[in-house]
Amino acid sequence: MQATSERATVSAIDVTVGREIPTEVQQVLDTAGRLVIDGVERDRASDGGSFDTLDPATEQVLASIPHATADDVDDAVQAAARAHADGRWRALPPAKRARVLLKVAELITRDASTLAWLDTLDHGKPLRMARGEVMAAANTFRYFAGVIEQPSGAVIPSAAGRFVYADREPIGVCAQIIPWNFPALMGAWKLAPALAFGNTTVLKPAEQTPLSALHLLRLLAEAGVPDGVANLVQGPGESTGQALISHPQVDKIAFTGSTEVGKHIMRTAADRLARVTLELGGKSPNIVFEDAGDLGKLARRAAFACFYNAGEVCTAGTRLVVDAAIHDELVAKVAEVADATTVAPGWADGAAMGPLISAEQRERVAGYVATGRDEGAELIAGGAVPEQLSETGFFYAPTVFDGVTPAMRIAQEEVFGPVLAVQSFTDEDEAIALANDVSYGLAAAVWTRDLGRAHRVAGALQAGTVWVNTYGEIDTAVPFGGMKQSGIGRELGPWAIEAYTQPKSVWIAT
Ligand code: TAP
Repeated sequence: MQATSERATVSAIDVTVGREIPTEVQQVLDTAGRLVIDGVERDRASDGGSFDTLDPATEQVLASIPHATADDVDDAVQAAARAHADGRWRALPPAKRARVLLKVAELITRDASTLAWLDTLDHGKPLRMARGEVMAAANTFRYFAGVIEQPSGAVIPSAAGRFVYADREPIGVCAQIIPWNFPALMGAWKLAPALAFGNTTVLKPAEQTPLSALHLLRLLAEAGVPDGVANLVQGPGESTGQALISHPQVDKIAFTGSTEVGKHIMRTAADRLARVTLELGGKSPNIVFEDAGDLGKLARRAAFACFYNAGEVCTAGTRLVVDAAIHDELVAKVAEVADATTVAPGWADGAAMGPLISAEQRERVAGYVATGRDEGAELIAGGAVPEQLSETGFFYAPTVFDGVTPAMRIAQEEVFGPVLAVQSFTDEDEAIALANDVSYGLAAAVWTRDLGRAHRVAGALQAGTVWVNTYGEIDTAVPFGGMKQSGIGRELGPWAIEAYTQPKSVWIAT
């Protein structure tokens, strides 16, 4: 028997309630089957191939998308290479490029509702969350517009008769490959810094969520990004993505996705020494000390840290590492919050958690739940498909396992679904050891009122981001990326300059 045939009783809203797609969103859906190459929208791949994108709440086809072939990818890369070579973007006055990116931010804000609907339909996430992510996408363009006119480089002290400076140049053609969990936001995280620093791009969204990227590209064109500077190919990773990462004229690959594919990309890039930045998976610890405060509030925050976006978040707090002194009470409350989470299609009023992205992903999550049980963890919430949402869509109940030990797979591997593993500790050293005992190092959190302990633990955690008495906060001005198997490089904040430029030193004999 497959684990997804089991049923959980949770708060839920039926998939038939409230799916009235606004006219402007329907208009985008009607023309969604497009690649964008050299400023031209192509409604057909070179061999006529296509694939469907589904609504994971209803399983209905939303649109048929051209499946870009290696020839289409070559056209897109060539267009980006020509645009880089002739300087139609990088050679513009910085103030002009900044104005264009500010305009992109303004247009994203104008079309926020449309973009949010596209991501909700394509991914399944609650509309109000999608809207928040779209506003963050607009902020990303706004932030990087501001970076364009900042001084870069340095004059280096040198001997009489020499004047030496080091400046930054764009890298060139950037292949940008993104996952399906935050489609519009990940698109913005990739496009905005690459364009700000004068590069040209070919974006490939995940095949499950192609819709909002096309709308973003249309907004870039409307804002004045020249033809060929930002191109869009669509299709699965193993064909379209593979053609893109192996293309000899791609100078840099910016990838967000799984650690496994990230390693493959790095190996492929190594053959021609293409630059890479990799934003990969995580298994983030959320450490709660007994002095952390109100347990009801902590339980809500711990549940939110793990179940936000149906757990399909690289930084999800999937390991609750809790002080033995408060373990029983806190974990009981977390299980109550899990059971009370309203699972529903993203467009339904009151939806707190939508479906998983696909049937395959739900089987994967159910497989991990079965493994957790087999390995002896105690299932205390969820662990099945919600009773009321079992007929249609890829829903799964928020799930909590207690009594998880470090050797269990659910303590070590990224589930990428709403599954929380609870581990318990008796002192600070044990908490840190448990937290760091995974191959990932993307994010971590510590909850305590002891200032000294907060600093000690934050310093000891092996993670690219540490939150203290909060979880999941992200800002375009703050560097984001992983340690260990969670990635290489940082893409936001002033640090993004490292990801999208290369230094050049100039020696002048005066
Ligand atoms: P992946 O399977 O790694 O896919 C990510 C992207 O890579 C998709 O666009 C995929 O295309 C493409 N791809 C797959 N194989 C490829 C290949 N051989 N060549 C080129 N591209 C290829 O990840 P996913 O399941 O979509 O996303 C979940 C993962 O992303 C999780 O591990 C999560 O932690 C990670 N993630 C990390 C972050 C950060 S910022 N660290 C943020 C979000 C997600 P198709 O899907 O179309 O096949």
